[in-house]
Amino acid sequence: MTVFAPHKGPRTQRIDIGDGLVMRWSTKADADDVGTLLSEAFRWEPFGPPVPAGTVPGPNEVVRASGRRLLRGNSVVMTEYDYALVENTRAQPGECPLVACACLHAVPGYYGSVQLQYGKLEVIATHPDYRNKGLIRRLLFDMIHPASDERGDLIQFIQGIPHFYLQFGYTYAVRTGERRARIPSLDLIPKAQVGETEAFHLRTVTLADIPYLVQMSTPNRLHRDDTHLGLLFDEAYWRYTTHDVYETKQSIFDASRQTRIIVDATTGKDVGVTVSSFLGQWQWDLFTLEKGLSFLDAVFPVLRGMVTMAKDRYDDPEAPPEDSFIDHLVIDLGARHPASLILEPLVRPGDFERLYTRIPSYAQFLVRVAPVLEERLSRSALMGVSGTLCLDFFKRVQGSSGRGLQMMLERGKIVSVKDWVPPTPQERMMEVRRRLEEKGRVQVQTKEYGASLAPLSFTRLVTGEISLDQLLEQYGENSVKDAESRLLLEVLFPKVQHHFSSLWW
Ligand SMILES: CC(C)(COP(=O)(O)OP(=O)(O)OC[C@H]1O[C@@H](n2cnc3c(N)ncnc32)[C@H](O)[C@@H]1OP(=O)(O)O)[C@@H](O)C(=O)NCCC(=O)NCCS
Repeated sequence: MTVFAPHKGPRTQRIDIGDGLVMRWSTKADADDVGTLLSEAFRWEPFGPPVPAGTVPGPNEVVRASGRRLLRGNSVVMTEYDYALVENTRAQPGECPLVACACLHAVPGYYGSVQLQYGKLEVIATHPDYRNKGLIRRLLFDMIHPASDERGDLIQFIQGIPHFYLQFGYTYAVRTGERRARIPSLDLIPKAQVGETEAFHLRTVTLADIPYLVQMSTPNRLHRDDTHLGLLFDEAYWRYTTHDVYETKQSIFDASRQTRIIVDATTGKDVGVTVSSFLGQWQWDLFTLEKGLSFLDAVFPVLRGMVTMAKDRYDDPEAPPEDSFIDHLVIDLGARHPASLILEPLVRPGDFERLYTRIPSYAQFLVRVAPVLEERLSRSALMGVSGTLCLDFFKRVQGSSGRGLQMMLERGKIVSVKDWVPPTPQERMMEVRRRLEEKGRVQVQTKEYGASLAPLSFTRLVTGEISLDQLLEQYGENSVKDAESRLLLEVLFPKVQHHFSSLWW
């Protein structure tokens, strides 16, 4: 499934923001300037190979390569028209005219059984001389968010610098996955027996392998069956990361993701896939084997093959072995992946990161994922439930659609979800009086479920990042109306596993 509908042709929006600065969208012609801006903005950021102690970092080449790669017109996540830029129209000859930038990606993913297109902000920067003037705020609110909302992204993510994006309608609501682990030294990987050939070896990928890669990377193949919110590795993803990106590769810093097919050395048959990447740390992103094969037999031969490949790919051939970047491995395969379990004696627990998440309209999002919510209801004590769930968010957050939400349920089906304005205390009292007066005459009273939730905190419940109990515990103003409301929210929005790999493009 490819859900990305590329923007056709240049975007014409231009906004004059004063002082000679104009916001506009990119074309391919901006690729080098975006690269220059990024390399300067990220000069002091710890992103890419470590800078030797005592040296002043140069322009950041990893990020320069990223910007140029994204604007080549062959990216799987955006077109050359999807970078929002601030241009200094008074730039002197020889000076880079771009002073701030933010781009908008589209990534296929899923929420339970429903497939979605995720909007994703990426590679955001302001030139040091132009910081703290609100340029990123303007790019997000005036360009990126409206473009993302307009094309129908129902949820957006960014894995960004801590705290910054909380100002722009995001909250931390998605984990990259279960806690990562690391093999602290590659010397811990057992060596092959002397004189014995490896039972498995790795080969590079060709375009003919793409159907095999798609088939081998479904959530159940990745041992992530219980993941409710994650990425889809579709044909477009594999074509880009294993082929197209190399067609236009410009430097050693470009395109760090390496995919290999695992081959059974005895039969010569393809039996699995392994993917790793290097962005300052070497990371194992994906490892899958044909059904019936033993991970116990394959894990170390595959790891040894990967170490050889990675040293060859990422290390400077002139540098001494002790300066190798490939000296440890971060394992991001998920806690229940057989390789993670087998390697447990070797690893140190690592961390997981949280992604900033923005749901511009809870109503639209919940209508889209209603089949998942109805399925949860049908398997619960609340099967067949009817009633109205009203949520009060205290205030409307800039860029979000409502200050409250109303969901109507009839016999276990979600019949409507819409923005809702909670009644004032006066309206509430008048309503109670009206009902008392009508008592006896009204035949059926619809059950009303309710909760009050701090602005944006509901996002964390919708994604299943935390449980309702945790949500009530963590925010002083959060409360549920009664025990039935608590049960309904627990059934609709359980805590679930997530799987995200943010920087694969
Ligand atoms: C982070 C960065 C993009 C911010 O750009 P900017 O144009 O200065 O951002 P804005 O002026 O729009 O910021 C708006 C607000 O964020 C605040 N802010 C700026 N940097 C911040 C940070 N690192 N953390 C938290 N808040 C920050 C500003 O003070 C401003 O607040 P105010 O409106 O209350 O005064 C810029 O510092 C940069 O390029 N850094 C290096 C590259 C980088 O880290 N990019 C982001 C990768 S996700």
